[in-house]
Amino acid sequence: MMARKSHRQPEIRIFPDPDAAAAAAAERTAAAARQAVKQGRPFNLVLPGGSTPQRLFRMLAAEPYRSGLPWQQIHFFWGDERCVPPDHPDSNYHMAREALLDPIAAPERNIHRMRGENTDRDAAARGYEAVLRNHFHQPASSDFPAFDLIFLGMGTDGHTASLFPGTPALEEKHRWVIANNVPRLQTQRLTLSPAIFNHAEQVIFLVTGADKADILAEVLEGPYRPERLPAQIIRPERGVLLWILDQAAAKRLRQSGGQTQ
Ligand code: 6PG
Repeated sequence: MMARKSHRQPEIRIFPDPDAAAAAAAERTAAAARQAVKQGRPFNLVLPGGSTPQRLFRMLAAEPYRSGLPWQQIHFFWGDERCVPPDHPDSNYHMAREALLDPIAAPERNIHRMRGENTDRDAAARGYEAVLRNHFHQPASSDFPAFDLIFLGMGTDGHTASLFPGTPALEEKHRWVIANNVPRLQTQRLTLSPAIFNHAEQVIFLVTGADKADILAEVLEGPYRPERLPAQIIRPERGVLLWILDQAAAKRLRQSGGQTQ
């Protein structure tokens, strides 16, 4: 069992239902974006995959955010991607395109997708790392980039992004982006590596639904076993770690300290 590093405790906020949770996530996104732009720099946002974020995306694509956010200064990235074409229904990019990027007419130059269609998966991973290095002006740096805000979801097996239990990506210490074999799904996925998530200024898990209650209690209150519960790997070195939950997902938490909103 790996020793749990000393990290500040995550912040946990519990909301009555998925809409309230998504609304809180939208407000956090807006606040962080406005702060970055006020400081005269772009806002680098990493979008999650899966179904949970759709509510968040649709809220950001509606008022007051649709006309209230500086979309021209917001850059979109992905935490992971399925190895499918960009117009495939399983594509995380496709979902974000439909729910957010098209409705707000995000500038194409600000959209940085993983090329899941590339059948050479390692080349696709290296290609995305090159996109990130170019964007962050870190062509050869051994330092990792610091995204302003990374959203993550969590599966019922404790995976996050495409960091699945017992898969090689969990051990990656140097690459920014990897092609990860996921035997359980009989597929490969492209994913940012653990270090990228842990160098972010802010990481927000958005987790809702009763089906996540048991695994969430294990991840937040059980033993530190990241090889089995990859969501536990996410411990930003300096940044904020916030869990935005609905009451259904939080119902097994004992003493999480979560403030019910
Ligand atoms: C993906 C996501 C993945 C997702 C969880 C939760 O590509 O599927 O990155 O990590 O966040 O599987 O998915 P749901 O939101 O659909 O429950």
